[in-house]
Amino acid sequence: PGVRLVVVHPDKEVLAQAAAARLLTRVLDVQSVRSPVHVVLTGGSVGIATLAAVAASPLVPAVDWSGVHLWWGDERFLPDGDPDRNETQAREALLDGLVAEHGLPAANVHPMPGPTSVATPEEGAAAYAELLREHAGDRPDDHPDEQSEGTVAVPAFDVLLLGMGPDGHVASLFPGHEVLAAQGTTTGVHASPKPPPERVSLTFDAIRSAREVWIIAAGAEKAEQVAAALADGPVSEVPAAGAVGQARTLWLLDAAASTTTPK
Ligand code: 6PG
Repeated sequence: PGVRLVVVHPDKEVLAQAAAARLLTRVLDVQSVRSPVHVVLTGGSVGIATLAAVAASPLVPAVDWSGVHLWWGDERFLPDGDPDRNETQAREALLDGLVAEHGLPAANVHPMPGPTSVATPEEGAAAYAELLREHAGDRPDDHPDEQSEGTVAVPAFDVLLLGMGPDGHVASLFPGHEVLAAQGTTTGVHASPKPPPERVSLTFDAIRSAREVWIIAAGAEKAEQVAAALADGPVSEVPAAGAVGQARTLWLLDAAASTTTPK
């Protein structure tokens, strides 16, 4: 794994603004050397606030959105358009505007399938794995040293965003859950401790194939698991500890999430 950096911002609002600025800068930087750019989105309040901050940025027109692909780390197994789908929230916060006004091809938005198109989370996971495999050929030729990623049939994710739950879960990889052992690049999830019970998620292998993993977390209720993950706690108890990028892992925190207070 690459380097790990921890960045602390004063509060959740500044965190979202800074994460948005970082994301736009990262996309611009990558676009100066290669195309397409692959970004994996997260749900959660900070994740969506970050997308809303991207939408409001004056840098939006600087990005060549025609060369950007957007994926998801996990999705709630709910019908298309359901307000609780990460996809729905991301479309409203950012993606609809990028498609309508900034040249993002609708076909570059890759939501995880739900019950509108497949019968089970497993079918959704299999369909998404196939889609990821189809884009695994989007390998840059300017980084021939990155062949270690080649064993995982997913595109070279330039940035993979993750929120973290107060229980330390990332994507839909929950502590103590059988999903932690899932093989391949995607998995169906049942009996999630957080509703809804059925989901689709990337696996650790897919997450760890990303060049950069950015974990965005705000609030005092996250502090204990942030500290546990940064202390490299066991992935079975703190799944976030297992979310590391090939080149870099960034922990983007607000002050409340970065300080553990004794109980
Ligand atoms: C879910 C949530 C979850 C979320 C984190 C962080 O799985 O249902 O979307 O994965 O990303 O709980 O959420 P907040 O940013 O709202 O704290």
